Parts: sequence; C-alpha cells; structure tokens
Amino acid sequence: MTFTLTQLIIILIIVCITIAIILSLSVFWLLYVTEFSYFGRQITKFLYNLFSGVYQFKWKQKAYDAETEEKLFLKPLRKACENKQNLKVIDLACGTGRLSILLAKQTWFNGIIQCYDFSDGMLNIFKTEKAKLKPEEQSKIIIYKMNLLDWPNDQLIDQDYDLVILTEAGEFLPNFINLTEKIGKCLKSKALFLLTKPPDHLAYLYPNRKQNTLDLTALLKEQGFSEINIFPWSNRYEVVQAWK
Ligand SMILES: C[S@@+](CC[C@H](N)C(=O)[O-])C[C@H]1O[C@@H](n2cnc3c(N)ncnc32)[C@H](O)[C@@H]1O
Repeated sequence: MTFTLTQLIIILIIVCITIAIILSLSVFWLLYVTEFSYFGRQITKFLYNLFSGVYQFKWKQKAYDAETEEKLFLKPLRKACENKQNLKVIDLACGTGRLSILLAKQTWFNGIIQCYDFSDGMLNIFKTEKAKLKPEEQSKIIIYKMNLLDWPNDQLIDQDYDLVILTEAGEFLPNFINLTEKIGKCLKSKALFLLTKPPDHLAYLYPNRKQNTLDLTALLKEQGFSEINIFPWSNRYEVVQAWK
C-alpha cells in the first residue's frame, strides 16, 4: 500500500495529536488526580509544601459553606461526641486543620485531637490558624509531623479512640487499606470514622485503594463498621460516615 504525501501528513498529524492527548491525560492523572502518590511520598509532599499557601482558597466554594458544613460534618461530629468527656480524636492527613479547628471551637467538644500530616507547609498554616484560637480551644489540638505510611509510631491501644477523621486524603494514601484496618482496631464501639471518597465515576482513577462504594463498604465492614452512610458533597468528593 502506498500513501500520497497529503495522506502521510494527515496520518502524522493524527499520530501527533493522539500522543499529545495521551501525554496530557497522563500528566493530568499524575499531577492533579493522584498528586503523584503512586510514585513515592516525596513529590506529593513537595506539591503540598508548594501549594499550601493557596490551599484555603478552595474553602470559598459552595461545598464548604456553613450549611453544608453543618449537615455533613458538624452533625455527625456532634453525634459522635454527644454526652462524652475527655474524648480522644485522631485527624489523619489533617492538612491546614480545617476540621480539627472546627471541632476544637465547639463548646460541646471536650477532648484532645491528635493531628498528623507530613507537609511542613500545610502544618505551618495549621499552627498559625491554631494560634488564633482561644487558649482553651488551642489546648484541644496537638499537631504531629508524620508520614502516614509510618503511622502510628507507638503501639495503638485497641478500642481507645472516639473518632477518626480522614478527609480529602484517603485516595492519595498508598497504605489506605492497611490504615483502615488500624483505624477499625483503635476505635471504640459506636465510634465514628469520618472520611471522604471520590464519587464512583472517579474512583477507578485510584487503583488498589478501594475508593468505590462497593469495595470501600466491604473493607469498612471487614474492619467492624456496622453502619456506613455515604453522602454526595463536592464535584470531587463524597462524605462517608462509618459507625463502628
Ligand atoms: C487535600 S489535603 C486534605 C487536608 C485536610 N484533611 C482537609 O480536609 O482539608 C491532603 C493532605 O494529605 C496530606 N498527605 C498526603 N499524603 C500523606 C502521607 N503519606 N502522610 C501524611 N500526610 C499526607 C497532605 O500533606 C495534605 O495536607
């Protein structure tokens, strides 16, 4: 088969466009969708350190308004903390501390929140925001710099915690499954694991991290969670309330 020059040019253009599309989609998946989390911790950490200064701009979106915050976050948090004193809470991949700060400000919350993240940039902003709180609110928050692949560094006591939070981060954690097992063990009976997941039409972009509803529900049930409710939230996330 022979091609004319025009046909060859058209084929060449189609090949170039296809390669450009594949490359763009790969970069989009690597950088925006998975934040390089399939290629070691260093690049993800670098990205969060780099962009920590603009991270809180996203809170201007409707998904973060007071009404949504009350319905999807404060309501289950209040239920998990109701009539309890000296609560023990863990906020994993806490970032700049959005939910820990919100919780610490609540008069009905009486306890300690242990917050973990590996990005200095995110934690520095968290520390600045924490410093703006009243002293009695500040004393409810303890911040640790730690890679969650190494978490916990001490032996976790079984059935010791009242609440674990893991928002907007589970899909970036290579050890998400293993982490969920540890969370299941360390939570008390009737305690809450409050997390987020990508909606199912995006969950396939995170292979081996059990982010779709069926896989995540099965994983949570295996770890002793009996009531699992999933609510739509933003374009990128759903909120999962898993009660032990
Ligand atoms: C999108 S932010 C979410 C922050 C916070 N949970 C929130 O809801 O605003 C994701 C956070 O996960 C942290 N992170 C990602 N991989 C981590 C790892 N392996 N160990 C510790 N933190 C990690 C990042 O540093 C970042 O602060």
